[in-house]
Formats: sequence, C-alpha cells, structure tokens
Amino acid sequence: METLNSSDLIRDDEIFLRMNPAERIQHFLLILTFTILIVTGLPLIFYELKIFKTLMSFERAFYIRGVLHRIAAMILIVNIIWHFFYTIFTKRGRSNFKEMIPKFKDVRDAWDLFWHNVGLTQLLYKKGVLKTFFEKHPYWLFEKEPEFGRYNFIEKFEYLAVAWGSFVMIISGFFMWNVELSLRLFPLWVHDIFVIIHGYEAMLAFLAIIIWHMYNVHLNPEVFPMSKIWLNGKISGHELRTLHPLEYRKILEERKRILESESL
Ligand code: HEM
Repeated sequence: METLNSSDLIRDDEIFLRMNPAERIQHFLLILTFTILIVTGLPLIFYELKIFKTLMSFERAFYIRGVLHRIAAMILIVNIIWHFFYTIFTKRGRSNFKEMIPKFKDVRDAWDLFWHNVGLTQLLYKKGVLKTFFEKHPYWLFEKEPEFGRYNFIEKFEYLAVAWGSFVMIISGFFMWNVELSLRLFPLWVHDIFVIIHGYEAMLAFLAIIIWHMYNVHLNPEVFPMSKIWLNGKISGHELRTLHPLEYRKILEERKRILESESL
C-alpha cells in the first residue's frame, strides 16, 4: 500500500461536528438566561448607575425585573438538569465529559503557553544570556505552543467555572428567593453570606464572560471575528488540525487503522 498523507485522509475543508443541535440549544439557553440574570440582577448592586436608573425608571420596573430574574433562574435550572441527563445518558455526552476532565497535562499546558506567550527565555537566549543552559535544556525556551486535544485547558476551566458558578448561584439564589425558609434553617449571618456570595459571584461571572470567554471565542486572532461553532456546530479539518491537533491525530490514526484493516 502507498504511504498516505494526512491531507489524503482528512481534507482541510472537511467538516466535522463539534456541537450537535442539543449542545447548541443548551449553550444558547445558557447565553439567554445568563444575560437576563445579569441585566436583572446587577441593577440591585449598581442602582446608582445612570444606565440602570434609566432602565428602571418606569413604574413597576423593579417588580418586572424581579419576575424576569426568577423566570430566567428557572430556565437556567431546567437547562442544567437537561445537560446533566444528557451527559449521563447519551454516549456523546459521556464522551464529551470524559474529554473535559482536567489532567496534569492541562496544568503543564497552561504553564508552557504562558511562558511561550511571554517569550522571556527566548529573548534571553537571543541576547546570549544563559546560552549554554538553554542549549542543554531547550524545553525552557518554550519555543512551541502546547498541543491540545478536544478541549484545551481554557475550555475545561470555563466549563468547570460554569458548573461551580451555577451551583453557587442556584443554592444562594434559592435561599434569597425563600427568605423565610432560609431564616428558619440558618442564623441571619448565614443568610447574609448567601446575599454577599450571590452578588460577588455574579460580578465575577460577568467579568469572566466579558473578558475571558469573549476574548477566546471572538477576539483571539485564531478565530477573529468569531468562532461560528456555537451557531452551526461545525469545525473544519484545518481548524481541527491547528486548534485541536491531538484530536485531529486521533481521528487520523483511526482512519489509517480502518484503511489498513480493509486492505488486508
Ligand atoms: C448566573 C446566574 C445568576 C446571576 C448572574 C445572578 C445575579 C444576581 C444579582 C447581581 C443579584 C443582586 C444581588 C445583591 O443584591 O447583592 C441577584 C439577586 C437575586 N437572585 Fe440572582 N443571579 C443568578 C442566578 C440566580 C438563581 C439561579 C436564582 C434562584 C434560584 C436567583 C435568585 C435571586 C434572588 C431571589 C435575588 C434577590 C433579588 C430579587 O428579588 O431579584 N438568582 N442575582
């Protein structure tokens, strides 16, 4: 058999499914509910801001804000329950979750990418500082970017942050919603902590989404102006090769194996 090129087995314009319709709907519901929860929650903290004063200027605005916050909270909870069952009871859900579990490699990837981006050791080497050390230990030059599998450490961290953040917001929000129950079960200071946590976690989540997530899926030069995966679920062979090389190679190996077993 002739030796096969990787481009023969995976064309750059071949389309792979990265997010199926169920995953896209879950992601869309998360965007929708999160936006409503932020817009209807933050006015309680930043009530002095002009934008919130204008938004809340009409009669019953505050009442409607509270109702919308609770409706969005319910949809968020249903969405999370759906995702939970999807993860447990579908093969694809289980496989995605397995790929999402953080490993030691993720810590190392974060470390390697940080120093690769900073470029300090390469600069020192170019200037002739510690030249013999770097020639003996080229790892410390961080010349190559780490290679990622189906999910990189940033995506894994974001997923964990959503899981942990939702848990915290649902528990604290539930007791803020049911104040009487909360005060029957806990002393007042515990309830006060629920309120504090709910507010600060909301700000943290808002900033994380605006700064981190938006950079990774919009502004990052590798995907600018926007990764369309959340809309059409598709990723090309080229994107797979450059952004998720380990997953790309896994598919390649599988195809090679199938081809070899067919030609036997
Ligand atoms: C990511 C999701 C969420 C965000 C970003 C968010 C945001 C906020 C913010 C910023 C506040 C104002 C806190 C303060 O006054 O210090 C608030 C209040 C509140 N939140 Fe949330 N929240 C979320 C989820 C939830 C959930 C899941 C529930 C219910 C289970 C909930 C129920 C409440 C309640 C009852 C209040 C009290 C004020 C009101 O009547 O609206 N929240 N939320």
